[in-house]
Amino acid sequence: MEKKKKAAAEAAIELVKDGMVVGLGTGSTANFAIEGLGKRVGEGLRIRGVATSKATEELARRVGVPVVTLEEVGRLDLTIDGADEVDPQFNLIKGMGGALLREKIVAFASRQEVIIVDDSKLVDVLGTKSPLPVEVVPFGHLRTKDALESLGCKASLKGGSSPFLTDNGNLIYECKFAKIEEPEILEAEIDLIPGVVESGLFIDLATKVVVASGRGIEVRSKR
Ligand code: A5P
Repeated sequence: MEKKKKAAAEAAIELVKDGMVVGLGTGSTANFAIEGLGKRVGEGLRIRGVATSKATEELARRVGVPVVTLEEVGRLDLTIDGADEVDPQFNLIKGMGGALLREKIVAFASRQEVIIVDDSKLVDVLGTKSPLPVEVVPFGHLRTKDALESLGCKASLKGGSSPFLTDNGNLIYECKFAKIEEPEILEAEIDLIPGVVESGLFIDLATKVVVASGRGIEVRSKR
């Protein structure tokens, strides 16, 4: 598994060119990309990175990738990030690492969103393997949970009795649906609930998916 994650990350960093502003994803797969970029910066590649979490910012600084804020750059050339599930239309579930809000803001600001996964993340229908993480403000969160469950899921607070707090000071509910057949509609319904900050449904944001499997690397591009 780790070998596949690293292989996908290494294929994706080949897409990074001198002078680019690069979004740095969060999670174990994205970490391989950040380490690889650090190595290439050491060899002379000039890039600036926008981090999608505090943990990523720390790693980027440690491996020598210059970090800037989104405000400083406005737009990004390319972001490399992992995912929890990828469907055939390149729609995603992201955020099991708790960084979905910043990841989504950075993806939205990126000309290219390159998703790196091992083949265990590929699904025919979203929601069939992973719960859907939803970032929720702490105020009134039990009521927000009820509203999420009325959409047909079982919602569990990430961290349970020691709740996980996001980099933005919010909670995450992991919402297990049997399957998510109409992700655009579900995303809109979730966004209408007061107290929801953002969901981990990434619709029409990924432009490339780099999949590592036992057969090697496959780069799929959105037509
Ligand atoms: C972080 O919040 C997530 O969106 C990750 O990108 C996702 O959970 C994939 O993580 P791994 O690469 O660790 O599986």
